[in-house]
Amino acid sequence: MKNNEIELDVNDEKRKIWLNGKILNFNEANISVLSPATQFGISVFEGIRCYWNSDSKKLYGFRLHDHFKRLMNSAKIIEFNHTYSIKDFYNACRESIIANNYKEDITLRQTLLLDGFGSFHSKDNISMFAAPIARGRMIDETKKKGLTCKVSSWQRISDRSLPPRVKIGANYVNSRFAHLDAVKDGYDTSLMLNDRGTISESPGACVFIVREGLLITPPLTSSILESITRDTVIQIAQKILNITVIEREIDRTELYIADEVFLAGTSFEIVPIISIDRFIINTGEKGILTKEIMDKYFEIVRGNNKDFLNWIEEIY
Ligand SMILES: Cc1ncc(COP(=O)(O)O)c(C=O)c1O
Repeated sequence: MKNNEIELDVNDEKRKIWLNGKILNFNEANISVLSPATQFGISVFEGIRCYWNSDSKKLYGFRLHDHFKRLMNSAKIIEFNHTYSIKDFYNACRESIIANNYKEDITLRQTLLLDGFGSFHSKDNISMFAAPIARGRMIDETKKKGLTCKVSSWQRISDRSLPPRVKIGANYVNSRFAHLDAVKDGYDTSLMLNDRGTISESPGACVFIVREGLLITPPLTSSILESITRDTVIQIAQKILNITVIEREIDRTELYIADEVFLAGTSFEIVPIISIDRFIINTGEKGILTKEIMDKYFEIVRGNNKDFLNWIEEIY
C-alpha cells in the first residue's frame, strides 16, 4: 500500500455490477466513450459502506437512506432529468450486493451519469450503476497509526463555482490536485483552505479537531461535503460521549496547536492525523477522544449498538 491508497481487486472478473436495471459481469458493464460523463466528469455518486457482522452472520448497510437522499440532492443540483425514486436507488444497491453475495465488509459506488452523445449542458439520458466491492482483504496499517498531512496550496472549490456540498464527479479533480500534491511532498494527505482562507476538508473526508475537551469542526457552509460520517461523529459525541461539539471556522494555525485532529468519512472511517505541515499533533499518536469516537463508530456500523439500529439496514 502506497500513501494510504488502497489496493482493491477492482478487476475481479467475477464482480457483478447493476447497470440500468440489469446485473452484468464486470467487463460487460460499459458506457460510451463519447458520453458527457466520460468527457466532462458529469456524474453524481455515493460511496456507501456495508459491514459484515460475523456474530449475526448478517450484512448491514450504514445510513443508506441518508446516502440516497444526498444522491437525489446531487442529481437535483446538477439538473439531471431522471425518474428514479429513493426506493429505486435502494433496490439497485440491494440487488447489486445480492448478486455478489459478499460475506465480508464491502463498499459500494452508486452513480448517476450523463450518458449518450450530448454535451456538458445536456440533461437527459441518465444512466445509473451500482458497483459493490469487497473490502475484507484491505490492509490498512497506515490508517490505523494515523496520517501525516499538509495544508494544501490548492484551494477547495466553493459554492460559487463547483458546489462541494454534494458529490459531483468533477469535484474530485480538485481532490486529485490536493492529494497528488501532498503525496509528491511526502505527506499522506492534505487539508484544503476555502475561499475565505479557513479550513474546509481533506480530498475525501471531513476534519475534526479537539481543543480543551471540545470537539470542533468547520460548518457546512465552509466548502465541505454534507458528510454523513461528520453527522455520525457529531451524534456520537453529543449523545454517547457527552462532549460539546462546536461547528465553527477553523484557522490553519489552530490545527498545529490542537490536542487531537482526525478525519471522518465513509471510506476513511475515522482516521487520526498525527502531524500537519510537520507540526506534531500533541504526542504524535492517536488521541484519547479520537479512539473513543472510533470505538463507538465501529460498534454502531456493525449493528452492535442498540441505540443506533435505525442507521442500520439489513441486506441479508
Ligand atoms: C470531499 C469529501 N468530503 C467528505 C467526505 C465524507 O463524506 P461521507 O461521510 O458522507 O462519506 C467525503 C467522502 O465521500 C468526501 O469525498
